[in-house]
Amino acid sequence: MEPVTRLGVVGCGLMGSGVAEVAALSGLDVRVAEISADATDAGRRRIAASLDRGVLRGKLTTHQRDQARARLTFTHDLGDLADRQVVIEAVAENRDIKTDVVRALDKTVEDAEAVLATNTSSIPIVDLAVATERPGRIIGLHFFNPVPVQQLVEIIPALTTSQETLRRTRALAEQLGKQPVQAPDRSGFVVNALLVPYLLGAVRMVESGSARPEDIDRGMELGRAHPMGPLRLLDLIGLDTAQAVAESMYEEFKEPLHAAPALLRRMVAAGHLGRKSGRGFYSYDA
Ligand code: CAA
Repeated sequence: MEPVTRLGVVGCGLMGSGVAEVAALSGLDVRVAEISADATDAGRRRIAASLDRGVLRGKLTTHQRDQARARLTFTHDLGDLADRQVVIEAVAENRDIKTDVVRALDKTVEDAEAVLATNTSSIPIVDLAVATERPGRIIGLHFFNPVPVQQLVEIIPALTTSQETLRRTRALAEQLGKQPVQAPDRSGFVVNALLVPYLLGAVRMVESGSARPEDIDRGMELGRAHPMGPLRLLDLIGLDTAQAVAESMYEEFKEPLHAAPALLRRMVAAGHLGRKSGRGFYSYDA
């Protein structure tokens, strides 16, 4: 099995930019597609800033940063991903948007053997697979935020995924320096299935007025040695993403513990999305 050298990434927000950065640092030729010229520029700046931070913190040499930058190209035309061996989509956690993207990639990517991976957190992989003409080549590859830091990726084969696709995706995860675990194609996979009820439980504690965010977070940071408490973590993940994940899980299991609390919905409606909007359960400087 030849190693992947040409990777495509669709979406250059929080997750896509992290995936593209890690892949470029791992030596891959990475082409990043965004929806518009403005979004492409924002994605390029986001990755450049992260690479610069790596140099400032002494984790990367300027040579490594410059090499990674040279391996990255950006486009707002999905057609430019035609020659990719693997494409990872990391667009918004929305079933319709993701379905449109995998359909478009299915038409665009020329190599019929190419793998189309989705970074969805919660949408059934099989639903995306059967929207294409190559269901055997569709697989879940779920990264964790911040992508450059978190070692884990969940690999989620659908009922339709071929063994070859699974092998290739495992090999890619290792090429990227990540530690894969295989997860079932059930909404939430492994990690979110456990994490989401916990995060929503913390929101309900705030909503009911029974505890303050600072106390809940300190409790879990000091009492459970979590690197960050649940409300700080929600701010990192993005409240809109967390709501979308909870809704997919609720749709699948009809389990009250997965139902997004009203407070979460209201905060999302107000644009209080967490770190990325400057305000969530906490406030952040620009
Ligand atoms: N890019 C690269 N490196 C980063 C980074 C980023 N965006 N953010 C932090 N780091 C690095 C720092 O450089 C630092 O490295 P060194 O110690 O080697 O210098 C290290 O991470 C720690 O960073 P900080 O000192 O700035 O801050 P911290 O100690 O508070 O750590 C954190 C920040 C890494 C985010 C840590 O709090 C953490 O691991 N939190 C939990 C994150 C988590 O659970 N993520 C999973 C979310 S769930 C998800 O993503 C899936 C989903 O579907 C919703």
